[in-house]
Amino acid sequence: MLTKTAHLADRTVRYLEAGSGRALVLIHGFPLSADSWLPQLLRVPPGWRVVAPDLRGFRGAGAVGSDDAALDHATVDTHAADVLALMTHLDIDRAVVGGLSMGGYVTLALVRRAPARVSGLILANTRAGADSEQGRAGRNLMIELVQREGPPAVAREMLPKLLGATSTREQPDLVDAVRLLIEANTTAGIAAAVRALRDRPDATPVLSSISCPTLIITGDEDTLIPVSESEAMHRAIRGSTLIILPRAGHLSNLESPQAFNQAIWDWSD
Ligand code: MLT
Repeated sequence: MLTKTAHLADRTVRYLEAGSGRALVLIHGFPLSADSWLPQLLRVPPGWRVVAPDLRGFRGAGAVGSDDAALDHATVDTHAADVLALMTHLDIDRAVVGGLSMGGYVTLALVRRAPARVSGLILANTRAGADSEQGRAGRNLMIELVQREGPPAVAREMLPKLLGATSTREQPDLVDAVRLLIEANTTAGIAAAVRALRDRPDATPVLSSISCPTLIITGDEDTLIPVSESEAMHRAIRGSTLIILPRAGHLSNLESPQAFNQAIWDWSD
């Protein structure tokens, strides 16, 4: 069974786990959940243990950690602390930590807080910079939208941006699957996540301090976070590897799972 539950000091967290050996922790993007890493969890090579948690507030009403008090304080830093607490609970001292998009923001917060616990980094479809004024205004509109119309409206708004043109045209089942992932979240969870995105700090200063092996991966059809952002991180992180997947958009691990998996496992070899 892939789905597990950990009872931590202040909350219960659902996570997916597969394989055994060296640890890879995967942190999902917005507004998804750990389930967005299923194509990776179903194909774990021998010698690796992959763990993918739900970030606080994601997926489902009633999940402990999605209550309003816990969400009031959700920031990329508290998400990073949550992931570190789960690693400790699972006896994972050091791991390769990978995040897609919002998961990348959390990953950069995690490596800033606890570099000794990171043996490698995967930064997928993400960026280091903070939101611009215009970006922050867009976040406020998204908060209003979800509070007015609920998660289906967020799915409607985000789907065309999350998936690349090729996937949107050629993978209708994936479009439906991503809609289901988005709609499995709650209004309060999505609003809290948008606040965390809006208020995240600029992680650019972290990049030059990164000394572990780093893979930067994106899709050439990502319109939400353009390839130029990955190229900038590649220039700033010494010795990093950059892979740009063709015909993939913002959710590159879901849109091109085989190429994504090959990229991460070849790199980690
Ligand atoms: C994500 O995919 O996690 C978010 O869309 C990232 C963002 O909006 O900055």
